[in-house]
Amino acid sequence: MNEPYEVPERVRAGSPNSITSANDWRREYQRSADDPDGFWLEQTRKLVRWQDAPTAGLSGDYHGVKAGPFSWFGDGRLNVTVTCLDQHLAARADKTALLWEGDEPGDVRRLSYRELHAEVGRCANVLRSLGVRRGERVIIYMGMVPEAAVAMLACARIGAVHSVVFGGFSAEALRDRVRDCGAGVVITQDEGLRGGRSIPLKATTDEALDGEHGVEKVLVLRRTGKDVGWVQGRDVWWHDAMADAGPECAPEIVDAEHPLFILYTSGSTGRPKGLLHTCGGYLTYAAYTHRTVFDLREDDVYACVADVGWITGHSYIVYGPLANGATSFMFESTPVYPDAGRYWDMVQRHRFTIFYTAPTAIRALAAQGDDFVTRYDRSSVRVLGTVGEPINPAAWEWYHRVVGEGRCTIVDTWWQTETGGICISPIAPATAPKPGSATLPMPGIFPQLIDPDTGREVRGPGQGHLCLTQPWPGQARTVFGDHDRFVATYFSTYEGRYFTGDGCRRDADGYYWITGRVDDVINVSGHRMGTAEFESALVADEAVGEAAVVGFPHDIKGTGVWAYVVLQAGETWSEAMQQRLQRQVRTSIGAHARVDVLQPVPGLPKTRSGKVMRRILRKVAEGQPEALGDTSTLADPSVVEAIVAGAAVLKRC
Ligand code: PRX
Repeated sequence: MNEPYEVPERVRAGSPNSITSANDWRREYQRSADDPDGFWLEQTRKLVRWQDAPTAGLSGDYHGVKAGPFSWFGDGRLNVTVTCLDQHLAARADKTALLWEGDEPGDVRRLSYRELHAEVGRCANVLRSLGVRRGERVIIYMGMVPEAAVAMLACARIGAVHSVVFGGFSAEALRDRVRDCGAGVVITQDEGLRGGRSIPLKATTDEALDGEHGVEKVLVLRRTGKDVGWVQGRDVWWHDAMADAGPECAPEIVDAEHPLFILYTSGSTGRPKGLLHTCGGYLTYAAYTHRTVFDLREDDVYACVADVGWITGHSYIVYGPLANGATSFMFESTPVYPDAGRYWDMVQRHRFTIFYTAPTAIRALAAQGDDFVTRYDRSSVRVLGTVGEPINPAAWEWYHRVVGEGRCTIVDTWWQTETGGICISPIAPATAPKPGSATLPMPGIFPQLIDPDTGREVRGPGQGHLCLTQPWPGQARTVFGDHDRFVATYFSTYEGRYFTGDGCRRDADGYYWITGRVDDVINVSGHRMGTAEFESALVADEAVGEAAVVGFPHDIKGTGVWAYVVLQAGETWSEAMQQRLQRQVRTSIGAHARVDVLQPVPGLPKTRSGKVMRRILRKVAEGQPEALGDTSTLADPSVVEAIVAGAAVLKRC
């Protein structure tokens, strides 16, 4: 497993990019270490169309972050849509910018750079007419339609700040986000479509907006034509407003550190945090990493099948690819609709050259057998990517051997909502991959492994908590409205470093192997969730006294959700109760959240000071009750026996 695969010659040959060999990587990495400001100023001048080009690189550092955010390119001024759209009108006006396939196979739309520019201009004018001003927040709660990207870019065009909320989130989750960011406008659609099923986006929006909030206008795209509730004076049809708007909208020029978007993500504790990304640094990093990692070429048909509701969609469907003038694919459906051959059918029809998905999809598709793959022509593909969770070597090998027929290279890209772009990953033509390893850091990224017991750096091969030691342009600057929380979450565990929340191993070749989260965040089918969010949903039910939720290894989802539930006195466990609790989780988080195992327990294992010993709960869920360790400090050790016995029964079912 430690032997790297060679990068095939057809992947290496003819690259127009700056890193095409291991030596190039070494040189560029060293340059980014020796002169980070010079390195990033050079990149940004190449990749971004500035109104006033910056002369300054980084200001501030991790030690000073308590006093305020660090910044990049502080004296630069720009509008990101000039880089993503206007600059391409000279040479790429008729090139397809967005290639979209709807829920039904073959339902295809193409928007050229010229068309996308005009649509964004119209939508920007619509937003202005709805009263949106520079710096104000707009929530985008949509499915995977081209208009979602148009809406994001339209916000950026007028200096407004978008916050995309994944279309699977519940009304409660949407309401929390609307309130937290103080949005004045929500953009949604009548319904979403996914896997042949409709998703009631407008109805959920109406429910979310029932109560206190600052939303004055709701812009509604018609996708399915379903009748939807209508609030006179508040709701506006997208097509009506767009028909009245002109396509020209002068870009609002803003400072490099002007906010571009807020994206909510789950942490160990409390409610999801709104990570704030800013214009100049984020765009530079998204463009640089997209071009470099995937080895982008002018004729590529680039397909990332993520959702714009997550950071992957922001950086690698919208901002990175459009900044680079690529043809970027958007996909409304699922990998198994109408059957498990959907991805490869689209590869054949659209001739994708780069294909980027999540390990959970790869595992689910591998389980369906090779025929779904091999019946389609995949000869166009050069680079295969994965993101979102550790990929197990067996899934990696299948992706490489069956999907890629050994002709492609694989980039296993490690990064986070907080990092804005890819941080540790192979660079397609340059890095010999090893199955299951994210391999090497990108230029500008300086990983450090810290032994959590001693707080000391692990040098050479070893394992520890993954930290990054220096800011890079794409890093989130703060948590919207709560800078102290930003500092406490990321910069307090290890002084002077950014703590990622991931565990990691480094091998003798200096390759990094992400081992998974070391905090109470779980990655379920590539969806990042906090165990605390499940717990607060469960205890919201009056029958539940306490709940503790942990992750456990799951063949397809990567991590499954195991909930231990203590009922109130007098309540009894039943099938109906379980369904009610599942419903409660759905209502509070969303349709993508589901508990895999609900276990009633007489009590939670607590220390005498009342702290839940989650380590014990994790071991039981992992099926290792023999490895519980010392339980003598528990207030009531008999609870553990009951938990182990109950889990054994569930496992047998
Ligand atoms: O645990 C890591 C895992 O996903 C987390 C970040 O989740 P999120 O902010 O939702 O962003 C996902 C898309 C970038 C990380 O802390 N993760 C992401 N990519 C990988 C990964 N774990 C292992 N290998 C990866 N390639």
